[in-house]
Amino acid sequence: SSYIGFNEWESLIPLMITSFFSFIITLRLIPIIKKTTRAAGLYGKDLNKNNPKEIPEALGIVPATAYLVTLILTQLFYASDKNSQVQYNSAAFSVCFMIFLGFADDVLNLRWRYKLLLPTIASFPLIVAYSGTTLIIVPEPLRIYLGKAIELGILYKIYMMMLAVFCTNAINIYAGVNGIEAGQSLVIASAALTHNFIEIFLHISDDIYKQHLISVSLLLPFLMSTLALLKYNKYPSKVFVGDTYCYFAGMTFAMAGILGHYSKTMLLFFIPQILNFLISVPQIFGFFECPRHRLPHYNAKEDILEPVTKHHTLINLILWIIGPTHERELVNILIILQIVSCGLAFYIRYHVSSLFY
Ligand code: UD1
Ligand code: MG
Repeated sequence: SSYIGFNEWESLIPLMITSFFSFIITLRLIPIIKKTTRAAGLYGKDLNKNNPKEIPEALGIVPATAYLVTLILTQLFYASDKNSQVQYNSAAFSVCFMIFLGFADDVLNLRWRYKLLLPTIASFPLIVAYSGTTLIIVPEPLRIYLGKAIELGILYKIYMMMLAVFCTNAINIYAGVNGIEAGQSLVIASAALTHNFIEIFLHISDDIYKQHLISVSLLLPFLMSTLALLKYNKYPSKVFVGDTYCYFAGMTFAMAGILGHYSKTMLLFFIPQILNFLISVPQIFGFFECPRHRLPHYNAKEDILEPVTKHHTLINLILWIIGPTHERELVNILIILQIVSCGLAFYIRYHVSSLFY
């Protein structure tokens, strides 16, 4: 056929062009859509500011829509085998379903326990269509007990669901200061794409090469639309991203990790989110009372953020370590931490893991 499949790196050229459009569309549409979400009553108070203003909320709907259009248009240029196409479309369906449920959450303000359920439901399309391997390779020291690989079967599908639940919620609960939701996602997407390009360059096998091309096709338009969103979401926020965006981002990462077959490496890029999750466990699983917001304390007189010890979050822990900090500076520190963590992830992936596999 005259189409190109996900089997040559040149097939990324149309993707780069469509991704660029998702950047431009997001950049242009946010100033327009923010007026309509504001008029529809979708806004939030910027809690860490003097005289908190009402900021339009749920603007993640714009990059998410631009992203879906990009994914669909990209397929004009691709014709992989039927099997890959079914899986690719199912991944897109899962992301789309997640965006829909995220927007529903922003409009309806769902209770915390339902938030855990939503990504499970949204991951069904891919879980059902997934036909890749359900084998896991056993680390070297355990091989004498378990053999070289274990067939996980249905357990592998449960693992994929849990990955979707983790990635979406982990981003959503590492939040509350201007630009952190989009900022952390931008760093994770960049790290994952770097990993993809390394694997594409190394071309260890045709299968691995193609899997990473598919991951790039899911992540590049995501990165570009996030970049445009960040322009408006960074300190001082002109718009809030909403749960729409957090779920959209998390699901995109889960899908890229699954179809790219590097979900463990993907989880390594989530080190701050894993820490924040572990610190949060007592509150999100109800051992301690979990308030609606677990933000630091805003000291209005000095315009700085102070740690709140009864809110168990990584952000509060960091504030406790570094002392009261201005919001803009705190976000910069959190982003640097994310970048350093991703660097550590590469070290583990390419150095430490070779000792075990
Ligand atoms: C999650 C967190 C919650 C945190 C909230 C902040 C858990 C279990 N939940 O809840 O503790 O307070 O995110 O996003 O950890 N906001 C700001 N500044 C920002 C971003 C958000 O003031 O930079 C406020 C705004 O009022 C905004 C609201 O947070 O409207 C959005 O909260 P939402 O995303 O609905 O909270 P959850 O995801 O439920
Ligand atoms: Mg949220």
